[in-house]
Amino acid sequence: PRINSFCPTSQVHQRIMSPVDYAKKVAAIKAIDEYIKDNYIIGVGSGSTIVYAVERLAQRVKDEKLHVVCVPTSYQARQLIVNHKLQLGDLDIYPKLDCAIDGADEVDANMTLIKGGGGCLTQEKIVASCAKQFIVIGDESKESQKLGEKYKKGIPIEVIPMAYCPVQQKVEALFGGSAELRMAKMKAGPLVSDNGNFILDWKFPDSQFDWASVNTTIKMIPGVVETGLFVNMASKVYYGMADGSVREHK
Ligand code: 5RP
Repeated sequence: PRINSFCPTSQVHQRIMSPVDYAKKVAAIKAIDEYIKDNYIIGVGSGSTIVYAVERLAQRVKDEKLHVVCVPTSYQARQLIVNHKLQLGDLDIYPKLDCAIDGADEVDANMTLIKGGGGCLTQEKIVASCAKQFIVIGDESKESQKLGEKYKKGIPIEVIPMAYCPVQQKVEALFGGSAELRMAKMKAGPLVSDNGNFILDWKFPDSQFDWASVNTTIKMIPGVVETGLFVNMASKVYYGMADGSVREHK
């Protein structure tokens, strides 16, 4: 389905929404409508799907005169909150959140997530860990039986810059695969996260991993700040479909 289609007669050049974007949008709307209540403190994730969630939230705040506070997970999320005239908060003032909503790069059968495709994994995990409910939204392509089946870019690992080489070597020696330093656009040097760190993308071998233990082991390597493995964190996952329906992870 195409919505907001190009309208030559009125000379209004509106965006044509792809089926994938439409699927992201319906999942985002479902999450905001199901979970957000008046006076909620909300964690706002990062990425393209969350844009639709913030749009819907802003609409509900305006229409229903809700009072909510939004805690961002990235500079992108902060800008979204500010641009939509939503109230910005932080964890100093609001260390406990009612709900956090975020996208994911992949969701396996146990609702273990890979996150951090946009490099915001550390703040995303901190914010999600402070929320009573962590709601994940995405189009149906995010669902897989096993991590790595769909998402081929690997598991992001945020590292202190001086430690990226030893961390690379240790991760590869422990688990195999290759941990590649993520480069900025146009290969203009390593990508620097919102926290001033580097990101390794660990392309893991096709094997049966215990992701909770992999996450703990990697986090123990000196220089590792956080991994993009979110184990036992998601309360609910909504997958939007191109036909406009939304499916819950079962
Ligand atoms: C950013 C993330 C995003 O939530 C993830 O990459 C999904 O993004 P999108 O909604 O654009 O598919 O983890 O660090």
